[in-house]
Amino acid sequence: MIHKAIYPGTFDPFTNGHLDVLERALNIFDQVDVIMAENSQKHTLFSVDERLAMIREVVSIFPNVNVDVLHEGLLADYARTAGAKAIVRGVRQVKDFEYEFQMSLLNRHLYPEVTTVFLMPNVKYTYVASSIIREVAMLGGDVSKFVHPYVLDMLSVKREEKKGRK
Ligand code: PNS
Repeated sequence: MIHKAIYPGTFDPFTNGHLDVLERALNIFDQVDVIMAENSQKHTLFSVDERLAMIREVVSIFPNVNVDVLHEGLLADYARTAGAKAIVRGVRQVKDFEYEFQMSLLNRHLYPEVTTVFLMPNVKYTYVASSIIREVAMLGGDVSKFVHPYVLDMLSVKREEKKGRK
């Protein structure tokens, strides 16, 4: 029996903190699929295609990771259809927990067989969040320690695009 998990998120962009959580999940599960939520509730810096390209590049080293998009609908329904019994979420700080706790219990209500597994990234990524990476990178700061070189290039391109529009 294959133990499969899904690792959902907005991934705007995918950071080394996400990668750290994914690697930890791969130590537990046979297969972990990264599910990028299109997430109409959030205005994202990167388009769906750009986020997908970045995730695909970063996870291409793992044979047991697939990447997919959740265009619309519930994550719980996606998990059920995909046959995933576990949802992986990274938690960095106590403040993450309230929202994660709510989501976890709601997902369990919607799909009782699913269990959310919380993983803590390496402490060096405690303060790494996509939002702060976006902000620092768009203001020209060095985020090379926190993202894959491919993501770093995409951030530079985005910065140039934004500057060009001004
Ligand atoms: O990286 P994020 O933005 O914290 O990820 C949040 C995400 C995508 C996991 C969450 O918004 C989600 O599951 N969206 C899909 C729609 C859904 O199922 N919403 C109800 C969650 S209880």
